[in-house]
Amino acid sequence: MQTDYSYARMEEKDLKEVVSIEQGVFRHPWSEEFFRLILKDHNNWVVTLRKKTTLLGYGGYHLLKKQPSFLPVTASLDGIIHLINIAISPSFQHKGLGTLLIEHLFNNAKRRNAGYCYLEVRPSNAKAIRFYQRSGFFVIGLIENYYAQEKEDAIVMGKRLPALIR
Ligand SMILES: CC(C)(COP(=O)(O)OP(=O)(O)OC[C@H]1O[C@@H](n2cnc3c(N)ncnc32)[C@H](O)[C@@H]1OP(=O)(O)O)[C@@H](O)C(=O)NCCC(=O)NCCS
Repeated sequence: MQTDYSYARMEEKDLKEVVSIEQGVFRHPWSEEFFRLILKDHNNWVVTLRKKTTLLGYGGYHLLKKQPSFLPVTASLDGIIHLINIAISPSFQHKGLGTLLIEHLFNNAKRRNAGYCYLEVRPSNAKAIRFYQRSGFFVIGLIENYYAQEKEDAIVMGKRLPALIR
């Protein structure tokens, strides 16, 4: 039941559990130190998703101050968010939780007047690309050598966020 789930803004106390999922799902996981930097930036909004006390996943976005030139959207949109991370613990994937979490982030962003969301994803991450497509994202570009360490390009995907019904 959806009411068993709770969202909370990610804090220092969540770091160990978050990094443990991060290490379980990514080939190049973010470190605890990197998450700490993310949490310090007030334009970042990162949330945890828990069932009772069990951490199921986390995800977050950065609220941009300025529209990046490569985005094919007009400046009339109030705000743009960059989805910086999303992950669901492996044993809880494929149950609709990623969808719940990303929709929670969209609703939060819409309350902050965001009208557009974009993200980067590795071409090799077919599961995530399919997930984003199902969540309404379209491919809007490619950034060569974005993941420089592994010389891998990034697919850029974007979607308009529907207006918030208050
Ligand atoms: C991408 C990710 C966040 C998606 O999370 P998720 O919880 O598995 O997402 P959902 O369950 O909402 O949707 C995934 C699939 O499960 C299916 N699904 C949803 N509810 C379901 C259910 N009750 N029973 C069976 N399948 C279900 C969806 O239809 C979807 O199908 P698809 O594979 O055709 O897209 C997750 O795979 C993940 O953490 N991956 C590793 C980290 C990562 O790559 N992050 C993205 C970085 S760019």
